[in-house]
Amino acid sequence: MPNYTLQINGEKKSFTADEDTPLLWVLRDELNLVGTKFGCGIAQCGACTVHIDGVATRSCQMQVSILSDENITTIEGLSADGKHPIQEAWKELDVPQCGYCQSGQIMTASAFLSENKNPSEEEIRQAMHGNICRCASYNRIEKAVKLASEKMSS
Ligand code: FES
Ligand code: FES
Repeated sequence: MPNYTLQINGEKKSFTADEDTPLLWVLRDELNLVGTKFGCGIAQCGACTVHIDGVATRSCQMQVSILSDENITTIEGLSADGKHPIQEAWKELDVPQCGYCQSGQIMTASAFLSENKNPSEEEIRQAMHGNICRCASYNRIEKAVKLASEKMSS
């Protein structure tokens, strides 16, 4: 099996994996970064979302062999102390229900807000619509993204 070294949460991580191994399984099984979740495995639900060079990306469909020196960020690396404005907004509005989809939601929201600091409700809905929540916490998610945008611009 080939050996790979990737930049993950600011650190170089080395591991061996088959070329077609999805990044998601490297994160979870090799590096114990289990905050990133497996949902559908076919890029439909968003549970596995991480940032690759700041762009929200579904790690279940990202083969490790096509990555090299990109900066990969998982929910564990979003902030050093768990106090990213999005995480603060999530806590303030008590967003999670079962919690399963939430790291993917937060990673999508954080990438979106880094591009659009003052989004409208419709823009938030559009940005988040690909992240599925079986508990249907969508209203709270949208409110939390709005609150986070206010926190980030104040
Ligand atoms: S597990 Fe990747 S999008 Fe569902
Ligand atoms: S909070 Fe349960 S799936 Fe979203």
